[in-house]
Amino acid sequence: MSIAIKTPYEIEKMRIAGKLAADVLEMIEAHVKVGVTTAELDRICADYTAEHNALSAPLNYGADNNGDGGFPKSICTSVNHVVCHGIPSEQTLQDGDIVNIDITVKISFDDPDTAESEKTYFHGDTSKMFLIGDVTPENRRLCRITQESLYAAIKKVKPGNTFADIGTTIQKYIKKAGRYGIVKDFCGHGIGTVFHEEPQILHYKNADNRKMKAGMIFTIEPMINLGKGGTVLDKDDGWTAYTVDGKNSAQWEHTILVTDTGCEILTLRSEEKDIKRIMHN
Ligand code: MF3
Ligand code: CO
Ligand code: CO
Repeated sequence: MSIAIKTPYEIEKMRIAGKLAADVLEMIEAHVKVGVTTAELDRICADYTAEHNALSAPLNYGADNNGDGGFPKSICTSVNHVVCHGIPSEQTLQDGDIVNIDITVKISFDDPDTAESEKTYFHGDTSKMFLIGDVTPENRRLCRITQESLYAAIKKVKPGNTFADIGTTIQKYIKKAGRYGIVKDFCGHGIGTVFHEEPQILHYKNADNRKMKAGMIFTIEPMINLGKGGTVLDKDDGWTAYTVDGKNSAQWEHTILVTDTGCEILTLRSEEKDIKRIMHN
């Protein structure tokens, strides 16, 4: 299988999906504070997404043919030592917590009378860390260097560079920052009318020498731990991934389009003032 080159039509729709995903993250910020439950954040994001004529892609994602085992909520909320795929619950956010909120929306542009099974959905996928109240310097730094490693990787996205350049850049950046663990059990991914498609984007040194080409769209979403890089899956829910040693983890994610001269960040937020949406790398 090869890596899709999106058509101008598909790119236009992916821009809209990416913008909505970024808008959800901007919208939820005011609600992310001490005492709120992650289930409340899930409901607010799901409602906002529905009001914008889109669906939350995580809901029931990965279900089997009987409709069982899919992700049970509309967003992922990963608090402290949860690496990713945390399930919104009655857990309240506490002073000092760090929480990743990961939003994936999907939008159909088909006629409303199109049968559900015939609809095509375009996906936008993005996440960021929220710092709750008084966060320790160690945790603040973890969040910051993880975000910076994402930006360092985005600066390598241009035609002719390889996918290995992304992982190598992240690993170099993190190694220079100190003794952190890079998560290897989860990766970024191609994205389009399918939520997770080729290629897998590894966030560590690797030998994927395939070249990036204009029109490819994929996520970069490094997960960095204060301790070891290993993860363990929750035995009961089958989704929640914890750090193996119980230390905290951070993650940031953008959906990126490769352009002729560099890339375009489809999920850029207005708070990212120092980062250009269109980069000539
Ligand atoms: N948004 C996640 C990603 O970045 C995937 C979540 S899948 C879910 O790829 F089922 F856990 F929601
Ligand atoms: Co993703
Ligand atoms: Co995501």
